[in-house]
Amino acid sequence: MKLLVILIASIFSGIYFIPNEEGETKFSEKSSLTEVLILLGDQKPIHYTNEKSPELIQQGLEIVTLGRTIDPEGNKSSLQSKYFTCVDCHNVMIEDPDLRKSDPDARLEYASKNNIPFLSGTTFYGMVNREHWYNDDYQVKYGDLVKPAKDTLVNAIHLCTVECSQGRAFDEWELKAVMAYLYSIEYKLEDLKLTQEDYDKLNSFKTGEKNEELITWIKTFYLQYSPATFLDPLPEDKRGYGVNGNAENGKLIYEISCMQCHAPGRVTNYTLEQDKIDLKHLRRNMKGHNHFSLYNIIRKGTYALPGYRPYMPNYTLERLSHQQLEDLAAYINKGE
Ligand code: HEC
Ligand code: HEC
Repeated sequence: MKLLVILIASIFSGIYFIPNEEGETKFSEKSSLTEVLILLGDQKPIHYTNEKSPELIQQGLEIVTLGRTIDPEGNKSSLQSKYFTCVDCHNVMIEDPDLRKSDPDARLEYASKNNIPFLSGTTFYGMVNREHWYNDDYQVKYGDLVKPAKDTLVNAIHLCTVECSQGRAFDEWELKAVMAYLYSIEYKLEDLKLTQEDYDKLNSFKTGEKNEELITWIKTFYLQYSPATFLDPLPEDKRGYGVNGNAENGKLIYEISCMQCHAPGRVTNYTLEQDKIDLKHLRRNMKGHNHFSLYNIIRKGTYALPGYRPYMPNYTLERLSHQQLEDLAAYINKGE
């Protein structure tokens, strides 16, 4: 038995399984969710990889945050996109205080507390633990374009590099590096906020068998996919124009969401600062259905020809609530 433990420990080296006195594997706070699920007898994900060396992880981190890294030949690689890096639209840390819910109000509060952006794309943290990507209305509205991405993470990455990031597809080595990096920010058991009782229950698993019940149960602690509801812009008579909005919240959204891309020197020529001129421009255009109307642009985004220019992703209901839109309107109306 001891030998088996050493064997298991060496296979999953760097991952925390603590053998107890009987020599059985025990899960702890630092156990990675993928390895836990595999030991419980769950199927390995299609995107599963053993290649997670620190060098690969570092390369992946640089590709995601800077768009380029040093390639295997030792040269600087070319930028993945002229316009964006992944982190313009995706966080790389936990962004939802409760991993079982996709709640924009809770997320905004959490983002403010933790000093992270509030973005239209979902976080990369735990991305490898999801089982479906580009869900719900992405499937309904974009059909064949996103179908291959629904059950296959690698296809989702490919789609986003070309369509969202408006760049080139990753080379094989880059994809490997990004996958290694994504695995380095997968869920650990501690992220699921289990109680001691939960750990005891989990640790009652039977080695070498499929622990169906435990697998189903542990998956109730986090979402296996990010829900996505597209909205049409509200008709004019349904807009509150900020009357019942919280301007302070609105200011926060302006700063940690809109300005992430619109601040001078960022990804667009349409610059937004917190001055009277920019806010007045947005205020004057709030009514109606043109591009500059808050109510319109947030729900619709803008479109880009593939590879041609940056675009603005729409905010789904799960990424920005009706009330948050009103809060933003309230801030813009205040004009400062
Ligand atoms: C201009 C904004 C933007 C950029 C840049 C961007 N993405 Fe995305 N991405 C999105 C949006 C919006 C979605 C759909 C919402 C979501 O699920 O995250 C998405 C979805 C994804 C998904 C599927 C997530 C899911 O759960 O459905 C993956 C994987 C992904 N992007 C990877 C990348 C990678 C890798 C990069 C960098 C090379 C990147 N994205 C750059 C906006 C962007
Ligand atoms: C991921 C980056 C990103 C984020 C976040 C973002 N935008 Fe944009 N937005 C763009 C891009 C790119 C364009 C296209 C403008 C261009 O051609 O440069 C755009 C266009 C616009 C336009 C129309 C301007 C035009 O020239 O057509 C408005 C208005 C606007 N954004 C407001 C907002 C507001 C308000 C927020 C916050 C809720 C926001 N944006 C968040 C990237 C972003």
